[in-house]
Amino acid sequence: MGRDRGIEVENLVREFRKGPRAVDGIDLRVQPGEVYGFLGPNGAGKSTTVLMLTTLLPPTSGTARVAGYDIVSEGPQVRASIGAALQEAALDPFLTGREHLNLQAALHGLSRKERKRRGDELLERVGLEDAADRRVRGYSGGMKRRLDLALALVHAPRILFLDEPTTGLDPQSRSALWSEVSRLAREDGVTVFLTTQYLEEADVLADRVGIIDRGKIVAEDTPEALKEEIGRPSVEATPAEGVGRDAVVRVLGQFGEEIPAQPGAVAVRLSGGAAGLADVVRALDREGVRVANLRLDEPSLDDVFLEKTGRSLEGAGEHEEGEDMETAQA
Ligand SMILES: Nc1ncnc2c1ncn2[C@@H]1O[C@H](COP(=O)(O)OP(=O)(O)O)[C@@H](O)[C@H]1O
Ligand SMILES: [Mg+2]
Repeated sequence: MGRDRGIEVENLVREFRKGPRAVDGIDLRVQPGEVYGFLGPNGAGKSTTVLMLTTLLPPTSGTARVAGYDIVSEGPQVRASIGAALQEAALDPFLTGREHLNLQAALHGLSRKERKRRGDELLERVGLEDAADRRVRGYSGGMKRRLDLALALVHAPRILFLDEPTTGLDPQSRSALWSEVSRLAREDGVTVFLTTQYLEEADVLADRVGIIDRGKIVAEDTPEALKEEIGRPSVEATPAEGVGRDAVVRVLGQFGEEIPAQPGAVAVRLSGGAAGLADVVRALDREGVRVANLRLDEPSLDDVFLEKTGRSLEGAGEHEEGEDMETAQA
């Protein structure tokens, strides 16, 4: 496993016979030890990319190296270097968590003694010790995702692929998984390629984010840089009862250009950045303009997506055209 070269992708394409170009010529590079967040709506091409990088689907054209190995000509070496928790997890409802780990470890050729040690260690790491001997059919969604993660880690891979690891999870299970993924990267130096539809997940977890839409990468950088590119934060104030909107406009207008706001409220883009908020508060106070509510809004990754694609990430999935509203709600 000597060549720890992260992930290098060049002009990767995947066409499906009847479908669109699911992945339409993407380039990206993930450094060893980096957490790369692949953010995009439903149908953007995230899973197709992961399937190619994990050697489960051949590319139509283009190349990629994972851990320094070519995904087409060096499949076995790639597979030996990576762990993957994919969207269609193949858990057997009638096996326990411990039995799953034991099987997986046997597949990787660990001895009986190593299997037990590794199984115990991973069950503890993902917080499933207490549920280890229960059948998976009684597990919650969050527990299944944690078991998926443990299974992907059995052979201590240097590179980990996680395809929407927290979709459908409650906030608590989601942040438990985030902690574990961060720990793997920070403490063990594992390279993580993670797909998500959640802005917050990419923002919190990823060192760098690639935003994918309709098979193309539309933006890529650190979450901070992407948001900075969009511009400065804005402040929105709702006048207190009996206070005229004009008075609020007069004060806020000193700090930046007015932008659209919630009904009844006033918003400006702060020309001096977030630090200007304190001055806004002082000015409102000095001029005796009372407000019911004052809010600072940092630009979000959704603003980035909106700027690059003209649509909002929320609800930008492949069903938005309206032919199938039922699934679009799901
Ligand atoms: N096996 C397949 N055959 C035909 N089209 C497919 C297949 N898999 C995915 N697609 C299409 O490719 C596009 C990208 O899908 P996918 O990679 O699953 O997106 P994501 O994971 O971002 O939701 C979608 O339009 C999807 O319908
Ligand atoms: Mg997918």
